[in-house]
Amino acid sequence: MSEKYEIGLGNNDVDIRKNAQSDFISFWDKQAHNLTWFSPWERTLDWNSPFAKWFVGGKINASYNTLDIHQKTKSNKPAILWEGENGDSKIYTYGDLFKEVQKFANVLKSLGVEKGDRVTIYLPMVPELPIAMLACARIGAIHTVIFSGFSAASIKDRIDDSKSKIVITADGGFRRGKIVKLKEVIDDAIKDFEFVKNVIVLERAKNEITISSKDKLWTDLMQCVSDSCDAEKLDSEHPLYILYTSGTTGKPKGVLHETGGYLTHLHSTFQWAFDIKDSDVFFCTADIGWVTGHSYVVYAPLLHGATQVMYEGAPDFPDMSRMWQILQKYKVSIFYTTPTALRMFMKFGDQIPNSFDLSSLRLLGTVGEPINPEVWKWYYKVIGKEKCPIIDTWWQTETGGMMISSLPGLETIPLKPGSGTLPIPGVEISVVDEFGTEVPPNTKGYLIIQNPWPGMLQTLWGDDEKYKTVYWSKYSDCYYAGDYAVKDEDGYFWILGRADDVLKIAGHRIGTAELESCIVSNDDVAESAVCGIPDEIKGDVIIAFVVLKEGILTDRTILEKALFNKIRNDIGAIATPKEIYFVPKLPKTRSGKIMRRLLKSIGSGNTIGDTSTLDDVSAVTEIQKIVENKS
Ligand code: WT7
Repeated sequence: MSEKYEIGLGNNDVDIRKNAQSDFISFWDKQAHNLTWFSPWERTLDWNSPFAKWFVGGKINASYNTLDIHQKTKSNKPAILWEGENGDSKIYTYGDLFKEVQKFANVLKSLGVEKGDRVTIYLPMVPELPIAMLACARIGAIHTVIFSGFSAASIKDRIDDSKSKIVITADGGFRRGKIVKLKEVIDDAIKDFEFVKNVIVLERAKNEITISSKDKLWTDLMQCVSDSCDAEKLDSEHPLYILYTSGTTGKPKGVLHETGGYLTHLHSTFQWAFDIKDSDVFFCTADIGWVTGHSYVVYAPLLHGATQVMYEGAPDFPDMSRMWQILQKYKVSIFYTTPTALRMFMKFGDQIPNSFDLSSLRLLGTVGEPINPEVWKWYYKVIGKEKCPIIDTWWQTETGGMMISSLPGLETIPLKPGSGTLPIPGVEISVVDEFGTEVPPNTKGYLIIQNPWPGMLQTLWGDDEKYKTVYWSKYSDCYYAGDYAVKDEDGYFWILGRADDVLKIAGHRIGTAELESCIVSNDDVAESAVCGIPDEIKGDVIIAFVVLKEGILTDRTILEKALFNKIRNDIGAIATPKEIYFVPKLPKTRSGKIMRRLLKSIGSGNTIGDTSTLDDVSAVTEIQKIVENKS
């Protein structure tokens, strides 16, 4: 029996789960009325499995629902309390944001951007990033934000896939006191792309940049436009954005989210999970380049007219007290972060957070990876002072919003450290075996979602077939999440990690195939296999096994360096392995499948287990020796 924590915020809506269970479609229909529609929908859901259309016939706009609707009552209320890494700070009220977004929407129009066009955004965590996204949404352009830590080669693939007409970037961004030269990366990424008409450059770091005929400065453009631009009345299923994420194949997948369903999902989950009140100060530490930032930095808080903190830089810069300083300075009441960040804070001891006034906190959350019970308890005691419920929210880029979480804004249920608790109302989730049969309580299986839900992805950009095979083919009419999970005797879910070839490193998603194909593209390399091994802070770190071509004499230290550089250049620093091992052979089954499970055990120093399906046992002993010698 795991420990239970009886802590809530006093809310107890007993009917909502009952209503949701009896009819999930009319349940979501009711939720959608929380948004402002230009015209009502005719049908709540068209389900042509696995393609869903939510609120068909309804007309809506995401920018209207996050900005226009607040102008009467909240134009002077801070929307974004922005904290720069170097100590700069700025406040954007709902009125300021409204004006800036309309102006920038006019800028996009003046450059020929039309409804349905794609716009790539590669910006650091500055207010201009949500402004650019909301300006796209305002005119019906589809934004595709790329995390500013990705390299030129990664960006190139994404821009090529989305065929973006416009790219928005900055001269540079600050990261741990250094300037990351974003414009330079973009110059490199788009040099062969005729279809990119213009690059809009925000001057943030004031580093030197080269300006070509395609380039326009953000400030220059903003001077020549009016500050009024009406929001387009868009179909509910009009695409809002594409967000690329790693999958099991070499190429990242363009997850496409539409408007009405997605916003409905966010509006409801933000209320249920965070119990948001007008007086709250919300702080989600996610970078907007990932889905958490799209959903719970940009759209959900602004839908609710909430005040939030947005921080530009690294959580440990200039030192480990930065987060607590920000919490104290802005009197943050709701804090949403990752297990990786918490493990890092915990390692540096209680004294640092204890020397700050964190009494404004009333609710804590985590997202992105499993949280270890001892880290949960530390968060509860040291940060929350045993008075804040913790929500552990399970969801994915594809689900758009939270799917499993305790919901203190709705009900009070006992919390169990390490469990996300229950699915949100209106969503049915099970744990099944290989054949799709539900497994008994406390048994490991695959996590599936049984019905369509409003925040779900519409498809993969330009690839309906792949959408069907990746998510909807393993189990008929059910969404396959790619995670292992356990459901316990109380119906609580425990997520055990990925069941597919996707790694989770510090909460970020990296495809093994993507990384391996990058390593193999080095001329000296014949084969490669990567896997994740447990790490005290990051949850998992990557180790790579590399087989060289016959007769390669290149010095291994030089080769190793070349591979590290290649990974940083082709994917980004987040994919850098902790170790690269040069091995004579990879362990394979007789049918030729690489046994990553074995490599993982060897890399973690664990016992190997069953090797009966192995083609050549000597490969394993050799790899073990190599790993032992290096550590
Ligand atoms: C994968 C999705 C959720 C938005 C950010 C990540 C893992 C996510 C949890 C959690 C255990 C979690 C899963 C999932 N994951 N949240 N609370 N507990 N694991 O989105 O990059 O699309 O990754 O993150 O493995 O499938 P993502």
